[in-house]
Amino acid sequence: MKYAIITGASRGLGAAAAQQMLEKDIHVVSVSRNESSLLKQAAEHAGGSYSHFSCDLAAADQVQSVFSKIAEFVFKDAEIVYVINNAGVIEPIEVGGELDPSLVQTNVHVNLTAPILISNLFLQKAKDTGCKVVIANVTSGAAERPIHGWSIYCSTKAAVNMFTMTAGLELEQNGSPSRVIAFSPGIMDTDMQSTIRSSNEEAFADLETFRKYKESGSLRSPDVVAGALVKLILADSLENGMIYRVNDLL
Ligand SMILES: NC(=O)c1ccc[n+]([C@@H]2O[C@H](COP(=O)([O-])OP(=O)(O)OC[C@H]3O[C@@H](n4cnc5c(N)ncnc54)[C@H](OP(=O)(O)O)[C@@H]3O)[C@@H](O)[C@H]2O)c1
Repeated sequence: MKYAIITGASRGLGAAAAQQMLEKDIHVVSVSRNESSLLKQAAEHAGGSYSHFSCDLAAADQVQSVFSKIAEFVFKDAEIVYVINNAGVIEPIEVGGELDPSLVQTNVHVNLTAPILISNLFLQKAKDTGCKVVIANVTSGAAERPIHGWSIYCSTKAAVNMFTMTAGLELEQNGSPSRVIAFSPGIMDTDMQSTIRSSNEEAFADLETFRKYKESGSLRSPDVVAGALVKLILADSLENGMIYRVNDLL
């Protein structure tokens, strides 16, 4: 059996990727706080196999316990396991000196700590079982340049890139069949962009530019981006530690 574990599969890019994995006869394990009824229905309709595990990725203890259960579930009969660390949060959108400490903590936990803990657990299982694991960490262009008001998001995504490059280097040097890559999806028409547009100019100087992205139809559909992501990770030619960018893939 092939499995795809997708965090943040309840909406946006994660939901679109889950739907496309189902269509490829891959068992989808969705992880988020809320279960998407649309995804559940799509799985029933496609006759695809699907499971949902509720987890608040901001709580490290929940991440360890839920993902240990998921590992027990998939490694019984897995021939390959795909993990898409997709869930992410943009908040706090605020300048340094005005940051809400609890939003800072949530961002660091969801965007950075959770993908690291999940990767660590699944790479350990890959080693123990000999099963190939392919991990895709969803990153952002914000990892590569400072954006006013996004200090925490830019920092966590930059750290995700460095974790990916380092874990990829280690797998390469160990001669492991497993792969760790990052995927930068570009700007997409999802709830995250609505959150960005509902901020204010003192907190986020580029607000008008992002409002115009929506008005001018510049935001890509998450379905199109998910198509590129799914095609990428199902291909046999992934380069360990590489940061793949959607603009180079479409
Ligand atoms: N949208 C863009 O333009 C854009 C651009 C560059 C990069 N990205 C990246 O692409 C990825 C997907 O973004 P998106 O736009 O699809 O986001 P989205 O529409 O806001 O969806 C976010 C997903 O993350 C999950 N999530 C958030 N907090 C969580 C928590 N505490 N515990 C568990 N799950 C949580 C949500 O599920 P629940 O609420 O059900 O828990 C939801 O499924 C993110 O990593 C984002 O940083 C997005």
